[in-house]
Amino acid sequence: MDRLVMRGGRPLSGKIAISGAKNAALPLMTATLLTQDPLTLRNIPDLADITTLSELLSEHGAEITLRKQDGVRSLTLSTPKITCAVASYDLVRKMRASILVLGPLLARHGEAKVSLPGGCAIGTRPVDLHLKGLEAMGAKIELEQGYVNATAPKGLQGASFRFPIVSVGATENLLMAAALAHGDTVLENAAREPEIADLARCLMAMGARIEGAGTETIRIKGVASLHGADHLVLPDRIETGTYALAAAATGGDVLLTQTDPETLGALVDLLVQAGAEVEATRDTLRVRRDPARRLIGVDAMTAPFPGFATDLQAQFMACMITATGASMISETIFENRFMHVPELMRMGANINLHGGTALVRGVDVLRGAPVMATDLRASVSLVIAGLTAQDETVVNRVYHLDRGYERIEAKLSACGADISRVRD
Ligand code: EPZ
Repeated sequence: MDRLVMRGGRPLSGKIAISGAKNAALPLMTATLLTQDPLTLRNIPDLADITTLSELLSEHGAEITLRKQDGVRSLTLSTPKITCAVASYDLVRKMRASILVLGPLLARHGEAKVSLPGGCAIGTRPVDLHLKGLEAMGAKIELEQGYVNATAPKGLQGASFRFPIVSVGATENLLMAAALAHGDTVLENAAREPEIADLARCLMAMGARIEGAGTETIRIKGVASLHGADHLVLPDRIETGTYALAAAATGGDVLLTQTDPETLGALVDLLVQAGAEVEATRDTLRVRRDPARRLIGVDAMTAPFPGFATDLQAQFMACMITATGASMISETIFENRFMHVPELMRMGANINLHGGTALVRGVDVLRGAPVMATDLRASVSLVIAGLTAQDETVVNRVYHLDRGYERIEAKLSACGADISRVRD
């Protein structure tokens, strides 16, 4: 298993080009199941999760071609026919986003058998809302031997559905299903994440009739069929936020390009309160901190968009561990998203965990250590900590990072970080 080896203490300085958003690309890829025509997605990141989903979609009958032009990767996905409506446990357990094939398969094909994803490192993560929403649209759902058996022989019917809690994935699944349902659907308390609006833009380019994506009420008028489209995937706001926090943590000066600062309002507010300087243009974000002035501890609480993203909580904590004063960090989205805490403490961080809240008291120095984490964002928080620590840090199990960060060691090295990958 590959490891990342780094020596901390060098401020990051330079430019990092941001990749297409993983969490937008995955649902967009599943939209191929809604049409027999080719769907082209540009700005696809080079990540393990994209490969896993490509494998799953191929099993359903998708033909997928990858093109690279001027450094931009595009996928063309074409599913003339759904050849198999089963999503097996072997693939779904590798990546929870596989549940997003359920709505499209059911809407176009009238049946689907999708493995239940099961729990994961950050929480139990049920999919009950995906199933309840589809049932409200007339699907018959049975759970059998760890699989969801869903049928809608006469097609799905438009419905009104109010999400009891905000769910990004359930909003995406229902949005895609409703696009091909008979009649009108209204989704209330829908997720407002930029990835939802991006999916809706692509669906509309495919002929779907959607209003209000990006707000808490989405209205969809079902159409009989969708056609192909060419769509540019939006920039990855979590990758942007991660490097922004790495710049602040190391006392660096980094220009993040090809991004969309408008998707990062809550993080920018926190960075500014903590004493970093932030400048945004339409598609760049510059983050710097005078290395002579430490960051200041500030409190943060995760919340659905436009609140502070749970996917940036671990990285924010990595910044706060060497700030002056204390920071109270509350996680409200997932019940077990603090796997980074014990590892950060092994590097000398002073953190007290009380349920969903971590009290971080800033320390003067961190010391490098061999560390590992079982989740993507927890792993990258250890990289940020390693870049600020004295001596050598070895982050094990890099495959978690490869699920969500394209060429992380190359992007950080280009900004002066002493980091390399050791292949075993
Ligand atoms: C998406 O996961 C992201 N994944 C996650 O990113 C992100 O952390 C999460 O949204 C929250 O922003 C993708 O987009 C592929 P949810 P998702 O449904 O859709 C509960 C990363 O690091 N819930 O919004 O699975 C759930 O347990 C990943 O890139 C139910 O109770 O998240 C959680 O507590 C990790 N029942 C909360 O809702 C359901 O049916 C929010 O989950 C569905 C969700």
